[in-house]
Amino acid sequence: MNFPQRLIDIVGDDGVIQQAQAMSSFLVDERRQYQGAAQAIVLPTTVAQTSAVIALCNDSGVGVVPQGGNTGYCGGATPSESGDEIVLCLARMNRLLALDISSRAMTVESGMTLAAAQQAADDAGLLFPLSMGSEQSCQIGGNLSTNAGGLAVLRYGTARELVLGLQVVLADGTVVEELSPLRKNSTGYDVKQLFLGAEGTLGVITAATVKLFSKPKDHLACWITTSSLERACELFGYLKDELGENITSFEYISPESLRFLADALSDVEVPESIDFERHHALMEFSSFLPDADRDALLTALDRCSENGLVDDALVAKSETERRALWRIREQIPAAERVLGGSVKHDISVPMGQLPQLAERAKTMIRETFPTARCSLYGHVGDGNLHFNVLAPQGQQHATWIASNKEQVSDLVHELAAQMQGSFSAEHGVGKLKKDALKSYKNSASFSLMRAVKQSLDPRGIMNPGKVVEGS
Ligand code: MLT
Ligand code: ZN
Repeated sequence: MNFPQRLIDIVGDDGVIQQAQAMSSFLVDERRQYQGAAQAIVLPTTVAQTSAVIALCNDSGVGVVPQGGNTGYCGGATPSESGDEIVLCLARMNRLLALDISSRAMTVESGMTLAAAQQAADDAGLLFPLSMGSEQSCQIGGNLSTNAGGLAVLRYGTARELVLGLQVVLADGTVVEELSPLRKNSTGYDVKQLFLGAEGTLGVITAATVKLFSKPKDHLACWITTSSLERACELFGYLKDELGENITSFEYISPESLRFLADALSDVEVPESIDFERHHALMEFSSFLPDADRDALLTALDRCSENGLVDDALVAKSETERRALWRIREQIPAAERVLGGSVKHDISVPMGQLPQLAERAKTMIRETFPTARCSLYGHVGDGNLHFNVLAPQGQQHATWIASNKEQVSDLVHELAAQMQGSFSAEHGVGKLKKDALKSYKNSASFSLMRAVKQSLDPRGIMNPGKVVEGS
């Protein structure tokens, strides 16, 4: 029996796509950087089917490329060009399996979209705090496999910190069942941690038990104008001391990024009072005691105006205004795409060094590419900056990016490494940053990663060519 027929026997006719046109959207990544090919797209509906498919692939030496919402930036979910692999798409495994209010935990299948997971928690009067621009289409499995960050890391941590338990299918089809709402469990190795951030190279996450939180009684978004990134960081430190855990996000937007947004996306409304020449922070403030907390926020902002940290502050007066402010921040990546794309970076350094990182990176790019344009924005409250480089005005963007991206990224990654930082704070490694991982990961840790890969996936079938190869 041929291989596709054996896949059909496991998942049924409607679970295997082989027709070129129907396969096409699964074979290219979100940023159109990688075009792959595959024998088939396989869409299981149960963990038993997933296990049988992966065991079959292992026996047949066929590579398995797990794919969630396909929103990643590093090509981690795109198959190679060989056409020998299968894409294992988890989209049909999207059920809510359990929600335990007393344990504040929810178990979902990994093909559930992030927005649907947020909604399930909300329907139970609780909060699942992972949040990002792509939440309508990205899926929980992908979020956990890349240890996604997003907009609320400051308060709730990255995806990794939100996980209590996992169900994972290993390369030989074994199912690791660790779906548990337990908060405390000191029983040796924390096996689930191996798969969080592994980008499907060690096994496929099929379900997860995640933490839920009390919903804040109120949210306030506040757009703050200040004089520099350094000031924005100082302001963050001050407000953190004053307002503590109530600050759930603190995002930075450079004047350049704001101008790119206005040039590219006329449908994103920027309030008239926002000055395009200044630097900006968007702060989300969550309050549990609405009146008292709001007073504390307004008092803190007044003090910051008096001591020169804040030039202007715009507090959203309604949920509509709050969403409009967030839209400005969230649409910056889309604006860069409209302008022809950018060489994207996702770097982090110890908090106090962020302004220095930004200045040194800008100077270095200016010296090598004098007319290239830099766009800086991101999660300043987490020490994580998106330092993107756009082609010089008037140049053919795709050509400029294709010819210069490696040199630009090498410069930026090297600088982050020199400053004890990370070349990938939240977007993962995939294919794009495989070489950077080899260069910058501590060599003992890198060897350990290779040994783990070799041990869990000796035939090298799990997401081949991504992150790391076995030893
Ligand atoms: C963001 O912070 O908006 C995301 O990480 C996406 C991006 O940087 O493009
Ligand atoms: Zn980001």
